[in-house]
Amino acid sequence: MLVYILYAILFVVIGTAAYAGISAAPWVPTKPKQTQRMIECLDLFDGAKVYDLGCGSGTLLFAAAKKNPNILAVGFEISVLPFLVAKIRSLFSRQVTIHYGNLFKKDLRDADVVTVFLMSKIYNKLAQKFSKELKNDALVILEVWPFPNLEPERTIREENLLPMFVYRGRQFRISGTNTL
Ligand SMILES: C[S@@+](CC[C@H](N)C(=O)[O-])C[C@H]1O[C@@H](n2cnc3c(N)ncnc32)[C@H](O)[C@@H]1O
Repeated sequence: MLVYILYAILFVVIGTAAYAGISAAPWVPTKPKQTQRMIECLDLFDGAKVYDLGCGSGTLLFAAAKKNPNILAVGFEISVLPFLVAKIRSLFSRQVTIHYGNLFKKDLRDADVVTVFLMSKIYNKLAQKFSKELKNDALVILEVWPFPNLEPERTIREENLLPMFVYRGRQFRISGTNTL
């Protein structure tokens, strides 16, 4: 009986990790130095609501919350193992909330900051979502790949770091999402 339970757990863990890899990106946590630099670029203010789309074990969110005790950090994660790690960590934080589920189905209307470390193949779908939901001033920061055909408000290229690209919510409406 125990063997079947273990198989079932393994099936769920591997199955959801595989689904995440196909859906938007596999679980690859942002490195510590990159995390710190990214947080510096987020323009965080007291009460800001930060969303990490595909939050993994919450690396970025917990680091941002630690550095800024007056922000709220929200993560969405679909792969069960990192979700559970992040969820358990969030039980000890009054700032961080972790939700299970598909990032494409989550509401971003009250986001002040959105962080993205996902594969560029989903950018078109993501841009359409941003164009419908994001506030004009919401800051979006992407790791590694920019949105094609959309000029970032700011580009951060530094030695030993992955490039980062900053956008504002209004840009996704002005440009028209079908050009991305
Ligand atoms: C490259 S990792 C980034 C982790 C985290 N944001 C960080 O910076 O450390 C991408 C994460 O997105 C998750 N993911 C992939 N597709 C997803 C989806 N459709 N909904 C929610 N999470 C997803 C993966 O499981 C993985 O943990």
